[in-house]
Amino acid sequence: MNVRDSEHIIAELRDKESYVLTDNPKDADLILINTCSVREKPVHKLFSEIGHYHKKKKKGAKIGVCGCTASHLGEEIFKRAPHVSFVLGARNVSKISKAVNTERYLDIDIDYDESAFAFKDFRNNIYKAYVNISIGCDKQCTYCIVPHTRGEELSIPPELIINEARKAAKNGAKEIFLLGQNVNNYGRRFSGSLNHNIDFPELLNRISEIEEVERIRFTSPHPLHMDDKFIDVFVKNPKVCKSMHMPLQSGSTKILTQMKRGYSKEWFLNRALKLRELLPDVSISTDIIIGFPGETQEDFEDTMDVVRQVKFEQIFAFKYSPRPLTKAAEFPNQIDSKVGSARLQELQDVQDEILDEISKNKLNKIYDVYIEEIRSSGLLAGRSDNNALVQVEGDASLLGKTVKVKITNPKRLALYGEIIF
Ligand code: 5AD
Ligand code: SF4
Repeated sequence: MNVRDSEHIIAELRDKESYVLTDNPKDADLILINTCSVREKPVHKLFSEIGHYHKKKKKGAKIGVCGCTASHLGEEIFKRAPHVSFVLGARNVSKISKAVNTERYLDIDIDYDESAFAFKDFRNNIYKAYVNISIGCDKQCTYCIVPHTRGEELSIPPELIINEARKAAKNGAKEIFLLGQNVNNYGRRFSGSLNHNIDFPELLNRISEIEEVERIRFTSPHPLHMDDKFIDVFVKNPKVCKSMHMPLQSGSTKILTQMKRGYSKEWFLNRALKLRELLPDVSISTDIIIGFPGETQEDFEDTMDVVRQVKFEQIFAFKYSPRPLTKAAEFPNQIDSKVGSARLQELQDVQDEILDEISKNKLNKIYDVYIEEIRSSGLLAGRSDNNALVQVEGDASLLGKTVKVKITNPKRLALYGEIIF
C-alpha cells in the first residue's frame, strides 16, 4: 500500500507541481520519505534516514515525511528533526500539493475521507498495476497500529476502481493487483451514505470483464471473511490468480482471541485446507506474529501445527513488537525477547524444510510466466499464476508477455528455468 501511496504522490507532484524524479539525492529539491509504523524498527530507521538525507541534500532542498509514522508521531517529527519541512499522514496523501507549498505543514487527520479522490496517474511498473480498493481498517487487532494511522475503513467507489483498472490495462498492464487492508470486506461501507450494492466477489468478476486484463491478484484478504461465496469466485474465475495470502498471525485459538482476530485455529485450517482440496496447485502465503503477550510453548506448538498442516508457500514471520496506542502493548504478560527469537528461529527452520520439499517438486514443471521486470542480474523475472517467482534468460521484448517456462533449477526463493515457447 505504501508503494501505491508513493506512486500517487509522484503523480500529483509531477502533474500539478511540475516535479520530475531523480535517482540522485544531491540533485533533489524535495526528498520524500514514505514510512511504515507497523513494527518499531522502521520508526527508528526514519530518523537515521532523515539525518542521512539532511547531510546529503543540496542547500534549500526540502525533506517531507509521509505515511503511517507521520500519522503516528505528527508534531514530534518536527521536534526531533527540525529540518523536516512537512509531515503528511497516511490518510492525507491527496493533500501533497498543499504540503510542499506550505511552510511546516502538518496534516495527520485520520478522519479525512479521500476514498473518492481521483489521483493522477503514475506507475513504477506499467505491466503490473496496483489499484487501491479501500482505505483504512475497521478491525481492532490488539497488536496493530494501522487503524490508528490509517483510520476507519472506507471502500473506494467501484466505478473509480474499474476505470483505473481499465486505463492501466489499456496502457499495458495485463495484471491488476487490488490493494486494501481487508479486501474481502469490500463494499461494506462507502463514503457518506452511498451504497453501491457490491461485494468483493462481484468486484473481482467485474474487473475480470475487462478484456485486456489477464490476471487479477489481491492483498490482503482477512481469514474471517473467507466465506464460501468468496472462495467460489476465487476458485472459478479463471482470471483470478490462484495464490492466496491468508494472514494467520497465530495458530492458537486462545491467542487469536486475545488478538481479537475473530476466527479460531479450526476455522483457519478449514478454509486453507478447503482451498488446497479445491485447487491442488494453489499457493498460500501467510503472516505470523511470534511471541504475542501470553504465548506459551503450547500456543506456539499450535502455530507450528498449522504451519505443518497447511505447508505455506511463503511465510512473513515477525517477532511481536509492542506498538503505542495498541491494547496488547499494555498486556501484563509480555514475552521475553530471547524466547521470541528462539521460537522464530524454530519456525524458520521448519519452514525452510517445507520450502525445500516444495521447490524440489517443481523441477521440470512447466509454468505460464507473466514477465514483469528485468532484474539487475540481467535475468527476466515474472510470476506463475500461483505466484512462484520465476527467472529466465531473455530480452526486453518479452516484458508484459506470458511465456511457457520449464523449471531447470528450483531454489527456495526463486525458480530458474528456460523459456520453451
Ligand atoms: N508486531 C509484529 N508484527 C506485527 N504486524 C502487525 N502489527 C505487528 C506488531 N505489533 C504484522 C502482522 C501483519 C503484518 C503486516 O505485520 O503479521 O499481518
Ligand atoms: Fe492491522 Fe488487523 Fe487491520 Fe490487518 S486487520 S491492518 S492486522 S488491525
